[in-house]
Amino acid sequence: MIVTHLSLSDFRNYETAEVPLVAGPNLFVGSNGQGKTNLVESLGFLSTLGSHRVSTDHALVRQGMESAIVRARLEHGDRQLLVEAQINRTGANRAQVNRSVVKTRELPRYFSSVLFAPEDLSLIRGEPSGRRRFLDELLVLRTPRLSGVMVDYDRVLKQRNTLLKSARSSGLKETQLGTLEIWDDRLVALGSELIEARTALVSELQPEVIASYVAVAGEDHHATLATQLSLFAGPSDIDDPGAGLRRETLSADDAAQAFRSALARLRRNELDRGITLVGPHRDDLILELNGLPAKGYASHGESWSFALALKLASATLLRRESSTGDPVLMLDDVFAELDESRRGRLAAAVGDFEQVIITAAVFDDVPVALNGHAVHISKGTVVEAPE
Ligand SMILES: Nc1ncnc2c1ncn2[C@@H]1O[C@H](COP(=O)(O)OP(=O)(O)O)[C@@H](O)[C@H]1O
Ligand SMILES: [Mg+2]
Repeated sequence: MIVTHLSLSDFRNYETAEVPLVAGPNLFVGSNGQGKTNLVESLGFLSTLGSHRVSTDHALVRQGMESAIVRARLEHGDRQLLVEAQINRTGANRAQVNRSVVKTRELPRYFSSVLFAPEDLSLIRGEPSGRRRFLDELLVLRTPRLSGVMVDYDRVLKQRNTLLKSARSSGLKETQLGTLEIWDDRLVALGSELIEARTALVSELQPEVIASYVAVAGEDHHATLATQLSLFAGPSDIDDPGAGLRRETLSADDAAQAFRSALARLRRNELDRGITLVGPHRDDLILELNGLPAKGYASHGESWSFALALKLASATLLRRESSTGDPVLMLDDVFAELDESRRGRLAAAVGDFEQVIITAAVFDDVPVALNGHAVHISKGTVVEAPE
């Protein structure tokens, strides 16, 4: 799949933008602060319904405006599709496909992209929430139905936490006990489905991550993945990073059983602390190189290779099972971060995807193999340059 045209209005620093794109490599070039990342961020929004830079949508709407529009014309073979998101400062966002209204959360069904960005380093070095988001975004692109499960899980979690909090201050009343049991059932049902999906994804990613790491780093450092499941933690090791490490898939039934006994085991603690202590919202993805955790041990270059490998592996999985061609790859300022040999190897690894969009402050940072259609960006305007 490729994007043949991107239109923006009131997105970030763009009042309007019309950007024609081609198959193969596309380069967005311009000095810092001009709006290159904003362009790939807008495309990323269409496939993940979020931004890799901010957790709320407000920042995406141009200063002083009420709503932003991102519209992309997509092409796969002789099929064309127009997808559109309206991002509203207040109220829910809206979406259209071929000018018909669809639920916003349907958009990832139509457009699949993988963004490589400097922020990816925090997949290795940052907090668990970033790694959970990485897995969940990929899950939704592969199995769109799961976005509904995630939304429902979050809602049940909130309600359950509210109940635990009120029970903490006034003690658990008889009537609340019944309600808590209802939330427990919902939490376990939805949470086990997510745990099964995440653990299955991690074991499918594993061989791709090994191959992608070698492709990017030029050496094999045994890049391995494991999920750390909070439901295997006991009352004393809630905060112990070693508890609950798993490398293979956990079925939803087995997850449900473990989930139930974890809730029973931790009821006292949960009532004391007023929050839900186990479940997919407390899980992590553990990344190791040569048997050591990447976080805290890997060098800068190794951490970068691992981050790129995770993204490349995602792209490979999506490409393999897609009926609409490759995901669109976007590389935001990534080459500037890499040494010469990693640059070359990354270029080779992404070069045969149907469409690659690259941003760079200077042409020289981009390997020659990826030179192609260039778009110059200056102060929130797009100037298409002659080839
Ligand atoms: N909501 C917004 N409204 C207006 N300008 C914005 C908004 N968000 C970001 N900007 C501006 O966009 C510019 C950054 O664009 P960006 O795409 O990150 O640049 P780069 O070309 O370096 O990738 C900054 O000048 C910033 O002030
Ligand atoms: Mg940028």
